[in-house]
Amino acid sequence: MKIIHIVGARPNFMKAAPVIEAMHSFPTITQKLVHTGQHYDPNMSQIFFDQLGMPRPDYNLEVGSGSHARQTAEVMVRFEDVLLECKPDLVLVYGDVNSTIATALVATKMGIRVGHVEAGLRSWDRSMPEEINRVLTDQISDYFFTPSVDADENLKREGIEPRSVFPVGNVMIDTLVKLLGKAREPTIPGRQEKFVLVTLHRPSNVDDPAMLGQLLATLNRISESIQVVFPIHPRTRRRLEQYNLSGVGGNLLLTDPFGYLEFLWLQQHASVVVTDSGGIQEETTYLQIPCLTMRENTERPVTVEIGTNILVGGDTARLRQEVENILDGRAKKGAIPPLWDGKAGMRIARILDGLLSLQ
Ligand code: UD1
Repeated sequence: MKIIHIVGARPNFMKAAPVIEAMHSFPTITQKLVHTGQHYDPNMSQIFFDQLGMPRPDYNLEVGSGSHARQTAEVMVRFEDVLLECKPDLVLVYGDVNSTIATALVATKMGIRVGHVEAGLRSWDRSMPEEINRVLTDQISDYFFTPSVDADENLKREGIEPRSVFPVGNVMIDTLVKLLGKAREPTIPGRQEKFVLVTLHRPSNVDDPAMLGQLLATLNRISESIQVVFPIHPRTRRRLEQYNLSGVGGNLLLTDPFGYLEFLWLQQHASVVVTDSGGIQEETTYLQIPCLTMRENTERPVTVEIGTNILVGGDTARLRQEVENILDGRAKKGAIPPLWDGKAGMRIARILDGLLSLQ
């Protein structure tokens, strides 16, 4: 029984690693790893393979950057050749990035079954490319591995056969649970003991010069009362340069992106995390660190309903207010959602071993 795992962009690596590791315990399963090359900078890709103990990819499609159409199309064309050569029984795709929908579409049209890990999440916001990727991937997948009850309900509403939906929990949290003890302090010259950690890369926040300028100005204001550490995603760095916004002052430290273990340490020790990432909303919920999300909506509502996450939208005045509340000791308390226990990867491996051996 041959399974191909697809990874392409930074958040895929933490999701695939525990599933690959769990499948090693099943002698009936042969695994191949395909990296589409959507993310290619060493600190967006290679460092995660090293720190997460992932095997080297069997295939690297090296698609790189491009428009959505070009990137998706390149993945499709190159992945078709891999499938022709490899002839797997199942393709396992992760999350909601362009590489996810591109490879799921090629596989399903070739009559190869597709499993979607992190299925069923919905932001109900079609202006986000990830939402389109999620909805379409779920329409063409055969097996659905969900992280939370809302995802099960969304799939049911969309007419997905409940027998194919498997509530397994959160694979990203598997990686966190495994590596929490190895989190390590990064060297950041000038870093102070108390800090706010920031990550921003969504088009809605960084592709609009007015919005990005306003966010930076707000972070500068916040940095008058507490240091702000802001590791910059390549997309955001490009925009800062393009809009001539690189000149910032205050107690705002702009850094390159960190590896997994260093970023985990920063999350654990931050007074508050400000983000627009999906995965970081989940990781802060698990770590019970206050999280302020600069988005109008989230496909991960459980982080708001159960966890420490607060949706701030694009309201920068509210961002300052919420940071102040947290620093004054009025942070929202949260709990850890069910099945976020470090065992999701093993559940997926067991289920697939059972399903595929029945065929
Ligand atoms: C992608 C995912 C997003 C995910 C994010 C995590 C889609 C639609 N979006 O967004 O869901 O949250 O990854 O990081 O798939 N770049 C580099 N080096 C790299 C990678 C990217 O310089 O290693 C630059 C490129 O100039 C590129 C830009 O970043 O144009 C955006 O990269 P891309 O993969 O298209 O989307 P992300 O914004 O990273």
